[in-house]
Amino acid sequence: MAIKLVTTVAGLHAESARLLREKQGASQGLVPTMGALHEGHAALARTAVEQNDVVVATIFVNPLQFGDAVDLDRYPRTLEADLALLDAQGVDIAFAPAVEEVYPGGEPLVRVTSGRLGEKWEGASRPGHFDGALTVVAKLLHYGIPAAGLAGGVGLPAYRAYFGQKDAQQLALVRRMVVDLNFPVDIVGVPTVRSAEGLALSSRNRFLSDDEREAALVLSRALRLLEERANAHEPLDLESAQAMVESQPLVKLDYFDVVDPATLEPLAENCRETPFRGEALALIAAKVGPVRLIDNAPLSS
Ligand code: PAF
Repeated sequence: MAIKLVTTVAGLHAESARLLREKQGASQGLVPTMGALHEGHAALARTAVEQNDVVVATIFVNPLQFGDAVDLDRYPRTLEADLALLDAQGVDIAFAPAVEEVYPGGEPLVRVTSGRLGEKWEGASRPGHFDGALTVVAKLLHYGIPAAGLAGGVGLPAYRAYFGQKDAQQLALVRRMVVDLNFPVDIVGVPTVRSAEGLALSSRNRFLSDDEREAALVLSRALRLLEERANAHEPLDLESAQAMVESQPLVKLDYFDVVDPATLEPLAENCRETPFRGEALALIAAKVGPVRLIDNAPLSS
């Protein structure tokens, strides 16, 4: 394997500096993950490799973003397979620190707060989740800043970080954080990867039974229905799409709405009777059997 595994921040900095120097690198990409990698992560890594001279992927199961210790313990740890997947995409460095490396003084007293944007949708059913996620993303983005002067001594190499559009609320929050708090990084959203039948890839899909996996397809079907209506400049008729999801007995709908892509505020009146115009995001979350799934679709008309 060509990929280099490092477990300390000092090791990450040394290896990234060495590679930037060796490749006369003008850019560095960062792909933050929690491991248990699948094709969706492979797409993030591939995009980063296409766009940057040096690419770092992080593998860290962040305790701060789990409300429940059982969920944290249950989260799959698959380091060997993750390294093989990242290596196959051409990632240079995997940074897989222990919890003590990231939080040497225990849980941080000072955290990033996600504010109003983090309280709705996923935040409503997972209190504290986005504060925990943004806090670690802030740390990971800092660890990944490329060293100044390595690309021939002229300023900082370009710095980009890659997040999946599948986690639309997380992506909106990270975009907002780097603007509001002046992080020196460009955030790149990478389109959701789906199974041949349309199911959005997620590390949670492995917990679905065959029947639940089949039932879960109603989420992407309902989103597709909205996309088709938006493309045809028709009223979105969200209610009928909701009814389609609710008719599936194994699926318990949590929310399904059409929102502004940046603020995530509902765009209710733009989707019922009037033909749809503009840019929006359809967001859906449901429990399928015991597994909570989220999905979304950008709408444009
Ligand atoms: O999306 C994820 O996998 C995590 O929330 C992230 C961004 C790696 C932070 O732990």
